[in-house]
Amino acid sequence: MCGIIGIVGETQVSDRLIDGLKRLEYRGYDSSGIAVLDGGKLKRSRAEGKIKSLEAKLNDTPLDGPMGIAHTRWATHGVPNETNAHPHFSGRVGVVHNGIIENFTELREEMSDRTFESETDTEVVAHLVDHLLSTGLSPIDAFSAALKKLRGAYAFGLIIDGVEDQIFCARAGSPLAIGIGETEMYLGSDAMALAQLSQKLIYLEEGDWAVLTPTSFRIFDSNDNAVERDITILQGGPAVAEKGNYRHFMLKEIYEQPETVGRTMHNYIDEFRLAADAPEGLDFTDIDRIIIIACGTACYAAMVAKYWFEQVAGIAVDVDVASEFRYRNPVVDKRSLFMAVSQSGETADTLAALRYCKEKGLRTAALVNVMTSTMAREADVALPINAGPEIGVASTKAFTSQLTALAALTLAAGRDRETLSRDGEIRMTRAMITAPRLIKEALELDPKIEQIAFDLSKSSSAFYLGRGSQVPIAFEGALKLKEISYIHAEGYAAGELKHGPIALIEDGTPVIVLAPYDTLYEKTISNLQEVASRGAYIILITDEAGAASAHDMADEMIVMPSSDGFVAPIIMSIAIQLLAYHTAVHLGTDVDQPRNLAKSVTVE
Ligand code: M6R
Repeated sequence: MCGIIGIVGETQVSDRLIDGLKRLEYRGYDSSGIAVLDGGKLKRSRAEGKIKSLEAKLNDTPLDGPMGIAHTRWATHGVPNETNAHPHFSGRVGVVHNGIIENFTELREEMSDRTFESETDTEVVAHLVDHLLSTGLSPIDAFSAALKKLRGAYAFGLIIDGVEDQIFCARAGSPLAIGIGETEMYLGSDAMALAQLSQKLIYLEEGDWAVLTPTSFRIFDSNDNAVERDITILQGGPAVAEKGNYRHFMLKEIYEQPETVGRTMHNYIDEFRLAADAPEGLDFTDIDRIIIIACGTACYAAMVAKYWFEQVAGIAVDVDVASEFRYRNPVVDKRSLFMAVSQSGETADTLAALRYCKEKGLRTAALVNVMTSTMAREADVALPINAGPEIGVASTKAFTSQLTALAALTLAAGRDRETLSRDGEIRMTRAMITAPRLIKEALELDPKIEQIAFDLSKSSSAFYLGRGSQVPIAFEGALKLKEISYIHAEGYAAGELKHGPIALIEDGTPVIVLAPYDTLYEKTISNLQEVASRGAYIILITDEAGAASAHDMADEMIVMPSSDGFVAPIIMSIAIQLLAYHTAVHLGTDVDQPRNLAKSVTVE
């Protein structure tokens, strides 16, 4: 959601804070701000819009000092404007915050003698600490006392006028890490923010708070006991993602997929033995059910996995969106395996679902891209997808890597539960190994898809249809189109359309039909004809055999490389990603940072 960075040291921090904010911009980008202590005095600069607006402001009116905090915002309370941008000030206190203070109205009422400038929940924290300082408490006591009064999810960085060498920070529900330097200490929402500054990180645990000085850090738990936390050394140097020659991160990430899918596979598939192995700690033989919980794109990967696990490994799978699962007191059984699927590993609702099931005594696994994330650290087993940093807000390479890992786990489960023969395992492993090459071939269809996207960009709505494991790909196709092109789109199980939504089909309505030539092909084509005969403009995404059989049934055809049905969802994903991407580019939207969205949703 929002991004936080802080530095306390001896040299000027402004440029480095801005640099850190740029790396955090994927978390939120409706406004940004920076506060420094210059000669012990609190100063700030804030701007509406992207970080480049803040940079322009700082060029006109520079601001610097040896310590400071900075923030890039994804608005929750209050419209995105300069007044609501962080840092928020009250008296001696400046604060940046990620999360939601749930009792902010109550606290505002308690401090009704004070003047509040913004509509945010965050400003109340600055007032609260300032008020406690005015009662004579020391900075550290005022900070710790303020935390006790807050309800909700938060990560903070806070500085105090006159307290020249200390940054206060806290974490409850939103991630926060400390970066350790020689003569400086750092604070950041994630490793990405800190990667250029320090390779030695401490991830604060739930309820932790800390005081950073240029040469020390002290960490306390929620009961104010001094605690020690493990230091994580970042491997492989700074994880800085560059666009290279690509116009957008999203396009670069789409094109990375032959490599990223291959990389994911190496974690789970032995190409010599032609076998998949469940990582240590994951035993599919002593469970009755898998509960997979996720949000957005990750949830669509989970839905594909339901088809796979049930058909290949004979395990019942429940898939649910995390925001629903967590609040309905779900009945869960200890013989179920809980699996969270999340690119970031920080999505608030998915994390809450994981914690719920852990508390109920279920074995838990987290399939994540960020192995230093909270989910990876809290689950019993962390399952990496190794897709590398995904910067485009619209998830692409993480999706196909999630699918790849889930496909491999399905094979391991099938073999271990003896529902998959050795011949079957060899055939399906071979099919998986061909995926990177087939994705590469699919990418060659880019010019054709770009041309089809030109027509799609003139529409105000579209439908995506599929059957079987292509249904979640239809959902994902619609989500991709919505989030970056702002065209209204719906994904449907092809057989379901006639139960209502078909009423929306009129002359020229684009319907994107996902129909690889499998056992469900003919049924899907019947549904295609139902909408075609009502005037729909049909874009058929199929394979060579499907294309040969479809003749002239479609207005446009995208002929994907033929693949084993098992991996077809992975291959077909490339077409829907490129279609959404080019449609958005034709429409001139902000592809990597679409309106209203943030990459990592760490609030409910
Ligand atoms: O980090 P996560 O995988 O948990 O994120 C889940 C969703 O927020 C995410 O997939 C979102 O739907 C993407 N913007 C889709 O492109």
